Amino acid sequence: MVTVEEIRKAQRARGTATVLAIGTAIPSNCVYQADFPDFYFRMTNSEHLVDLKRKFKRMYVRQDISVVEVPRLGKEPATKAIKEWGQPKSNITHLIFCATSGIDMPGADYQLTKLLGLGPFVKRLMMYQLGCFACGTVLHMAKDFAENNAGAQVLAVCSEMTTINCRGPSEAHSDSMVGQVLFGDGASDVIVGADPDTSVECPLFEIVSAGQTIVPNFEGAVQGQLREVGLTFHLWKDVPSLVSNNIEKCLMEAFAPIGIKDWNSLFWITHPGGRAILDQIEAKLGLKEEKLRASRHVLSEYGNMSSATVLFILDEMRKKSLEEGKNRTGEGLDWGVLFSFRPGFTIETVVLHSIATY
Ligand SMILES: CC(C)(COP(=O)(O)OP(=O)(O)OC[C@H]1O[C@@H](n2cnc3c(N)ncnc32)[C@H](O)[C@@H]1OP(=O)(O)O)[C@@H](O)C(=O)NCCC(=O)NCCS
Repeated sequence: MVTVEEIRKAQRARGTATVLAIGTAIPSNCVYQADFPDFYFRMTNSEHLVDLKRKFKRMYVRQDISVVEVPRLGKEPATKAIKEWGQPKSNITHLIFCATSGIDMPGADYQLTKLLGLGPFVKRLMMYQLGCFACGTVLHMAKDFAENNAGAQVLAVCSEMTTINCRGPSEAHSDSMVGQVLFGDGASDVIVGADPDTSVECPLFEIVSAGQTIVPNFEGAVQGQLREVGLTFHLWKDVPSLVSNNIEKCLMEAFAPIGIKDWNSLFWITHPGGRAILDQIEAKLGLKEEKLRASRHVLSEYGNMSSATVLFILDEMRKKSLEEGKNRTGEGLDWGVLFSFRPGFTIETVVLHSIATY
C-alpha cells in the first residue's frame, strides 16, 4: 500500500523552478513622449465640464475596453513564449494572470484560456490590482507552483494598460501628472517549470528565492483608488529615497545564505518606477553605471509598464548577453537580483541564478 509520504514525494519536483521562455509585446499604436503633453491636454481639456453621469459613462466605456484588451494584450507574448519553450501548449498546467486593470468576472485569466485555446484543466490564479511589484509576486507564485507540483508548467502573464488611470491634469494633484508621464502599456509572459527537459527546453534563469518586505509607516507613499473617474494615483515625492534607503536591507537578507556582499558582483533587474529611483539606487549602493543599463533601456523605450516591466528587462538582459557573447544569461555573471516595488510600501526581492549560454 502506498503511503501518504510517498504520494507527497511523488507530487513534488526535484529541481529548482526555472524560467524556460519569455515573450513580450506592446500595443501597435505609440504616443511619443515629445507629443504626449499636447495630446494629453487636448484629449482631457473638457473633462472638468462633465457631470458624474458622464464620468460614469466614460468609465464604463474604459472599463469595457480594459476587460477586452488586457487579456488580448497578454496573448501575443504568451504565443511567443510558448513557441520559444518548444512544448505543446496542452502541456501548460497552471496559469497566473496579473493585471492592474480590466477587473471582471470571469476574469482575464479565463479569457486568456479561451484566446490561447488552453485545456479546461489548467489551474488558474488571477491577481488584480497589485501594482508595480506584482511581477515579483508572479515569479514567487510560479516558483511555488513549479516546485511543489511535479510536472507543473506554469504560464505567468503580466498585462498592463493605462486606459483606466488616464485623467485630466490638476494643479492640486501633480503626483497624478507624474503617473500620466511615466506609465505605458505592455505585456510580458514567462513559462516556469522545474526539472527542465533540456532536449526540448532551454533554461534561462533559475528562481532561487523570493522575499517580500513591508517598509513600515509608508503606506501612503504609492496609492491607487478605483473610483468613478477611474483608477486614481497618488505618489509621494520621496519614493526614490524611500526605495534607495531600504533596498540594502533586502539585499543583505536575500544574499546572506549565498555569502554575497558585493552588489556590483550581481546582475540587476530593477523595476524602473521612474528615472530618479534608478539614480538613487545607483548612488546609494555605489553601483557601477552598467549595472542598471537593462532597466534604464526598458524605461526609456517603453516607460513604466507596471508589473510587465521587469520581464521586459529580463528579456533584454538575456538577449543582450547572448548578443555580446557572454557565457551566462545574466551578463556573464552567476547571481542576480530582481526588485519590484508597490503600494504598501512593499519591496519584492527575487534571487536569480543565470544559466550557461554554451
Ligand atoms: C518623474 C521624474 C522622472 C521627473 O524627473 P526630473 O525630470 O528629473 O524632474 P524632477 O524630479 O525635478 O521633477 C519635475 C517636477 O515634478 C515634481 N514632482 C516629481 N515627483 C513628484 C511627485 N511624486 N508628486 C508631485 N510632484 C512631483 C517635482 O517637484 C518637479 O516640480 P518643480 O519643477 O515644480 O520643482 C522623477 O521625479 C522620478 O523618477 N520620480 C519617481 C517617480 C516614482 O515615484 N515612481 C514610482 C511609480 S511606481
